[in-house]
Amino acid sequence: MEVQTSSAVGVKTNQQVVGPIVLLGPPGAGKGTQAKLIAETYGIPQISTGDILRDNVARKTELGVKAKEIMARGDLVPDELVCGMVADRLMQADCVRGFILDGFPRTVRQAEWLDTQLEKMRAGKDGKGQQACAPPVVIRLVVEYNQLLQRLTGRRSCPTCGLIYNVYYQPPKIQGICDVDGTPLVTRRDDTEEVITERLKAYEQLTLPLVEYYGARGRLIEVNGDQPVEAVMAQTFKAIENVNRL
Ligand code: AP5
Repeated sequence: MEVQTSSAVGVKTNQQVVGPIVLLGPPGAGKGTQAKLIAETYGIPQISTGDILRDNVARKTELGVKAKEIMARGDLVPDELVCGMVADRLMQADCVRGFILDGFPRTVRQAEWLDTQLEKMRAGKDGKGQQACAPPVVIRLVVEYNQLLQRLTGRRSCPTCGLIYNVYYQPPKIQGICDVDGTPLVTRRDDTEEVITERLKAYEQLTLPLVEYYGARGRLIEVNGDQPVEAVMAQTFKAIENVNRL
């Protein structure tokens, strides 16, 4: 097996199928941070339902108008809207070797929908490329509550390139400015303490049952997310490579 490696992260440019990866974890666990690293390294797309929804809100689409207030409160957007959005995204050509779902599924109904959708995609593939829509590998990032609060209140992101910073843990070189493109960094609207509390409640009530859902199906891998980004990344990559034998 030939794997070419370059850059600090190590880009694995071979064209092997990676398959679907689900990143599961509470708000602030580091799903977006790790998803970007996986995407860059394995050459598969990051599908962040939060990012797609925020883009729709910014463009004031029909979906964005429906989602705006729900997201501002810290509640979950209805399953049918989110599943429809994911279905469209999975049809795109860049998902052919696999994809990373960041923030989806978030309810048992979404997880059941995803299993059915992947099964349909496998059936439609006639044996070719079926591995790209195999049952997902689910990586759960486990992080302690107070750490989550600090990560979320300290988060800043670049509206141009999407890079995520943290004023406590990963500050930019110049305060408030993106290292890559010089854009002023922004704070997410839902990163206020009041909304963070609601988001964490929604996670406990609606998303945590997925640990049992995927655990019972033997697909869950737990990673200690309470470590520096590079250490979490090393464990996450190991989990992906062990399952996929890349
Ligand atoms: P979404 O955008 O998915 O937000 P979330 O799940 O609340 O997760 P976050 O993006 O806040 O955190 P993260 O785990 O990605 O952490 P990050 O890497 O940024 O969803 C937003 C809203 O959209 C939801 O509330 C809901 O309304 C709606 N929505 C989305 N998907 C939906 C769905 N499927 N169904 C229904 N509704 C849906 O890191 C956080 C901070 O920590 C950063 O500053 C980062 O730099 C820092 N950090 C990361 N890793 C580390 C580390 N190891 N050590 C120190 N700092 C770290």
